[in-house]
Amino acid sequence: MKIGFFDSGLGGLVVLKSVAKHMPEYDYEYYGDTKHVPYGDRSEEEIYNLTKTGVKHLFERDCALVVIACNTASAETLRRLQDEFLPEEYPTRKILGVIIPVIEEVIEGECKKVLMFATQRTVSSGKYHLELGKRNEIHTKIEAVATPELVPLLEAGNMAGANAIVQALIDERLLGGGGIDGLILGCTHYTLLADTLRNTYAEKIQIFSQAEIIPKKLYEYLMKHTEIKAKLSRGGSRNVFLTEHTESYDTHIAILLEGRFMQE
Ligand code: DGL
Repeated sequence: MKIGFFDSGLGGLVVLKSVAKHMPEYDYEYYGDTKHVPYGDRSEEEIYNLTKTGVKHLFERDCALVVIACNTASAETLRRLQDEFLPEEYPTRKILGVIIPVIEEVIEGECKKVLMFATQRTVSSGKYHLELGKRNEIHTKIEAVATPELVPLLEAGNMAGANAIVQALIDERLLGGGGIDGLILGCTHYTLLADTLRNTYAEKIQIFSQAEIIPKKLYEYLMKHTEIKAKLSRGGSRNVFLTEHTESYDTHIAILLEGRFMQE
C-alpha cells in the first residue's frame, strides 16, 4: 500500500518532495485539487466535502494513510474526517494533519512570540491556538495573520511578489519592537519561501516550515505504528493526480519530484 498526500493545489508537492527524499523507498500518491484552489476563502462545508472527495480518491488508490498536507483542510476537516468518515468507510486506514506537528516543534523550540502566516480560513478556525492551549502552553503566543494574496502568487510562480509581502510584515514586527522569535509558515504553499526567509532572518527568528517538520514527524509516526508501516509497499513510485491539469504544471511537478513521477 502507499502513502497519500492531499492538498488544495500544488503546494503540498513541496512537502511530498521532502518526505520522499527522507523516505525514498515508499510508494507515494498525490492528489492536488487544482480545480478548486484556493480553499482559503471557501466555507467549512465546502472544504470538508472537497477534502473528503480527495481523501476517498487516495484510499481507492490503495493508500494506507493520507497526510492532509493543507493547513486549511487540516484545520477545518481533520477531526471530522477522523471521527465520522474513517470509522464508517475506511476503519483500517489513517488520516494525519499538519498542524499538531508544527505546534509540537514550536513548543520544543521554546519560542515566546510566534508570527504565523496562513489562509483566512486557517486563521479564523483558531486551530493553531487550540492545539497550543491543549498542551497547556502558556509561555508561547501566536499572532496569526491572514495572507490570502500569497497562494495565487505562489501558484503562479511569483516568488518575488510573495516574498516582498511576507518580509514587509516581518520587518514591521521586528523594527516596531514586536519582539517575535518564531515564524510559522502555516500554509503548505508558503514553504516555498522558507529558504529565502531563513537567509534573511535566521539569526533573529526560528522558521517553522512543514517541508522540514512533516518528514521527521511522519518517520516517527511510522516507527510508532509498525502495523501501518508493515503495510507499505517499497516500489519507490510517485503518482500525481490533479483535478485540473494544465501544461504549465508539468515543469513544476517535474522539478519538484525530480522527474520521478507518473501522471494519471
Ligand atoms: N494549501 C493550503 C494550506 O496549506 C492553502 C491554499 C488554499 O487556500 O487552498 O492552507
